[in-house]
Amino acid sequence: MPENTFDLVVIGAGPGGYVCAIRASQLGLKTAIIDKRAELGGTCLNVGCIPSKALLHSSELYYDIAHHAADHGILIEGSRFDVATMMKNKDAVVAKLNSGVKHLITKRNITLFQGTATLKNSSTVAVLNTEGKEQIFIAKKIVIATGSVPSAIPSLPFDGVSIVSSDQAIAFTEIPKRLVVVGGGAIGLELGSVWGRLGSQVTVVEFLPQIAPSCDADIAKLLARALKKQGVTCETGTGVTGYKKTSDGLEVYAKQGDKELTFKADKILVAVGRRPFTESLGLENVGIKTDDKGRIPVDHHYKTSADNIYAIGDVIQGVMLAHKAEDEGVAVAEILAGKAGHVNYNAIPGVIYTQPEVATVGIGEDSAKKQGFAVNIGKFALSANGRAIASDATDGIAKVIACAKTDRILGVQIMASNASEIIGAAVTHMEYCGSSEDLARTVTAHPTLSEALKEAALAVEKRAIHAL
Ligand code: NAI
Repeated sequence: MPENTFDLVVIGAGPGGYVCAIRASQLGLKTAIIDKRAELGGTCLNVGCIPSKALLHSSELYYDIAHHAADHGILIEGSRFDVATMMKNKDAVVAKLNSGVKHLITKRNITLFQGTATLKNSSTVAVLNTEGKEQIFIAKKIVIATGSVPSAIPSLPFDGVSIVSSDQAIAFTEIPKRLVVVGGGAIGLELGSVWGRLGSQVTVVEFLPQIAPSCDADIAKLLARALKKQGVTCETGTGVTGYKKTSDGLEVYAKQGDKELTFKADKILVAVGRRPFTESLGLENVGIKTDDKGRIPVDHHYKTSADNIYAIGDVIQGVMLAHKAEDEGVAVAEILAGKAGHVNYNAIPGVIYTQPEVATVGIGEDSAKKQGFAVNIGKFALSANGRAIASDATDGIAKVIACAKTDRILGVQIMASNASEIIGAAVTHMEYCGSSEDLARTVTAHPTLSEALKEAALAVEKRAIHAL
């Protein structure tokens, strides 16, 4: 095969793209991967999931030292916070993983190229490198995995300094005294918590009647209460109408029903969702038309309307989550290698990494009822869990939503410290079409927070052991 000809060219080296390239190479496909960033890992590794987790960890440590250490006999006087060191730690975490991903790619003989890719036709990709030089790649198959970028709102246009997206909010050089976050989804709540725990006065302005719209209303309410204790106030049912720069910083104007509200801020983080990124891809050259949300339509095998061209991750329909993109990357590589790649969209966990975390899988009680399911609900409060009491982690609840007719688990929602790990058991049960009975009869180590999930499953049939 000529040097510039490949079985597969992957455009975009985020979790979708690089995982796809690795799986394709494992299956014997000659593979190239192209990304415009110098570093691999896409949004998730460079400006998303990973750096935000490093900041969440730093701010949790600080918050625990400031608020809880003394209860355990740890007396620290004069502790203070240094933002520059926190950022240095975050950058080191990202750099370590950048080089880890690069190692995984190069060790597998995947050709890596930095530049902006444009589709010329259904088997030719032109790549413009940073010096303006164009290189042509010929591909039997092409996978588009170009991800997404933050959505803007007209009343608060990004300026990168005062009105920022998550890209800048993970890199503030000082703690904003007052931070207004527009959007109470995962990004707004996670970054709001980071800066709130460090002392910022944070107001989350959410358009819908509840924050965390992927959760049931009862869980969202509990989460709002927990966040309030950490300096994050949530104003729900509130729409932002505009802003003004004043001598005292910024003023954000909003409407809450008939009430006109003004929030003072030093920074405004707009986190109202993300949109697929398809600019300069040359979709028009191959006849691909995006849908009303800017997504690339694909069939069940991730094939676009163009011959040989496939798409995965944030640029197609479905939740914009790194692990969804990763599993689609594996599935499409397997399909292209003649195997049966598959993703179970009913069992994709979602996590908001606040403290406590909120993790969900499947459908919640609210949407199950809206969809007409007769459901049985089991709930168990973390305040009755021994491990939670021993670890200052009593804020939260586990909730199992089971089909009333078949007992099959339709969904699970957990608000708890480490909910991101606890949810794994629920995902596995759902993957195998498990029932609440299966979950309730699964032996769970004692004492663990996971016992709250087992108790919630028992509560579906009103037989939780540690609840009245
Ligand atoms: P999101 O879609 O999760 O939440 C955006 C929120 O903004 C919604 O609650 C929406 O009602 C609200 N909103 C929209 N327009 C508004 C307006 N004009 N005024 C007030 N509120 C408004 O989006 P987010 O948090 O920006 O995240 C983007 C994507 O990245 C999501 O798909 C999310 O799942 C993903 N992500 C996932 C993370 C995780 O898994 N932990 C972390 C960060 C992002």
